[in-house]
Amino acid sequence: MADKDKFASLIGSERPEPTNIVIFGANGDLTKRKLLPALAHMHRWNLLGHHSRIIGVVRQKWTQAHWVNYVHDELLNYFPEAVLNPPSWRVIAEKLNVVSGDLADPETYRKVAESLHADEGRRNALFYLAIPPAWYETVAKNLKAAGLADESEGFRRIVVEKPFGMDLASARDLNSKIQTYFEESQIYRIDHYLGKEAVQNLMVFRFANAVLEPLWNHKYIDHVQITVSESLGIGYRAGYYETSGALRDMIQSHLMQVMAMVAMEPPVSLDADDVRDEKMKVLRSIRPFGSEDIDELTVRAQYAEGDIAGEHLAAYREEEDVAKDSCTETFAAVKFHIDNWRWSGVPFVLRTGKRLPSRVSEICIRFKQPPQHLFKVEKDSSLNNDLIFRLQPNEGMQLTMTAKRPGLGTDLRRVDLDASYGLDGSGMPEAYETLLHDVMLGEAGLFSRADEVEECWQIVEPILDAWASKKDIPQYPAGSFDVPGMDELLADCEGGWRDVSEQDG
Ligand code: BG6
Repeated sequence: MADKDKFASLIGSERPEPTNIVIFGANGDLTKRKLLPALAHMHRWNLLGHHSRIIGVVRQKWTQAHWVNYVHDELLNYFPEAVLNPPSWRVIAEKLNVVSGDLADPETYRKVAESLHADEGRRNALFYLAIPPAWYETVAKNLKAAGLADESEGFRRIVVEKPFGMDLASARDLNSKIQTYFEESQIYRIDHYLGKEAVQNLMVFRFANAVLEPLWNHKYIDHVQITVSESLGIGYRAGYYETSGALRDMIQSHLMQVMAMVAMEPPVSLDADDVRDEKMKVLRSIRPFGSEDIDELTVRAQYAEGDIAGEHLAAYREEEDVAKDSCTETFAAVKFHIDNWRWSGVPFVLRTGKRLPSRVSEICIRFKQPPQHLFKVEKDSSLNNDLIFRLQPNEGMQLTMTAKRPGLGTDLRRVDLDASYGLDGSGMPEAYETLLHDVMLGEAGLFSRADEVEECWQIVEPILDAWASKKDIPQYPAGSFDVPGMDELLADCEGGWRDVSEQDG
């Protein structure tokens, strides 16, 4: 199979209509690290369309040549193949336009509109807000005032990044502000976890295989663990992270979305709202946290100094721009209960942290033990029936089973059935590629709807409040899972936490 065909069969070959991809915050970090490489990938696989344009909006007075050079240099850093092939780079360069102007100045939007009207062949527009949320309202309002929310000439879609609010009130406020200028159907709230190939595969795996359904409930499942472990620290993002912390940054968004996909009922169809309605039902079934539950059902901690791969790393409080007495959590774990027929009594335990020993994201469905132990073995935590979805690295699935150790006697051992997702080493689309492709096609299933975002905030708000009132925070050494209280969270669950520290790719 030719490379292109392989890729097309991997991501679906539908090519979006020509689109003006207007990026606000075009010289920011997200643009260079994620958006430009994703767009260059799409170009490589012929998914951008001849007439599509990438219009960067920047505050500085940039010439067209400056923008083209900027994109060239950033692609060289983040996706060199895109520029090392001169014919391909020439085509990308021809797609680049720049608009210089202040985000609060209506003139900027007049120039954007002009740039959109420069070519009859492309009237669709996607406005990507790669800017801090404090600017969302200003940009949405000005786009509307410039007639750019009007869809009579082509589609107009606005893409917003997280953090979508800092709590329930601010998320509601943000939703209502953006919805003043754009219809909900035009708003795409990115949660890049939903763009990950392995997360999408979760739906296929669950709903295209009948064999799982009879097992997918409280009769057979003891609990579910979702882990996103990162070895990196906070890098240059102290300003954001100090006001966020792990619960807001990861659990309220990515991990709760993944939990909803594991727990949801089969949707009526794959239409965006059918899928989102099912996820909403899960979120609404989550048992609310009372202030008295917080100590028992949640864990927070912050990394102290420690070592990862032979490198000595500073404590969080020693990082640049972090307060010396900061109580921001860099590790968070929460035990959720979903009070519905399917999941009654099955905890969903979510944990995430920075400066942990490895970079691993996975879902572990831990099945119950057989009702009778015929084989006399000492209780061995490795002999669980776990169904594992590896989200990264090495995307794939694994089922751990117990088998007889070859030889005389009836000693037991663990055997793993392992399946990788990769197709003949052809690689997988990056989450941002999948999501941009979906926005251009108008497929909203992988984006969070306003009510989902608000529901997630509502659920975690009592935890945020309780944590905010604490004067200190437990510490864990960087490079370890020695997090005070983490094991106790699974005390009544079968087998304890899965050891993910050795799985780094
Ligand atoms: C982002 C968080 O949304 O997700 C970051 O803000 C985190 O703090 C990142 O590092 C993790 O994403 P991934 O795809 O690397 O697991």
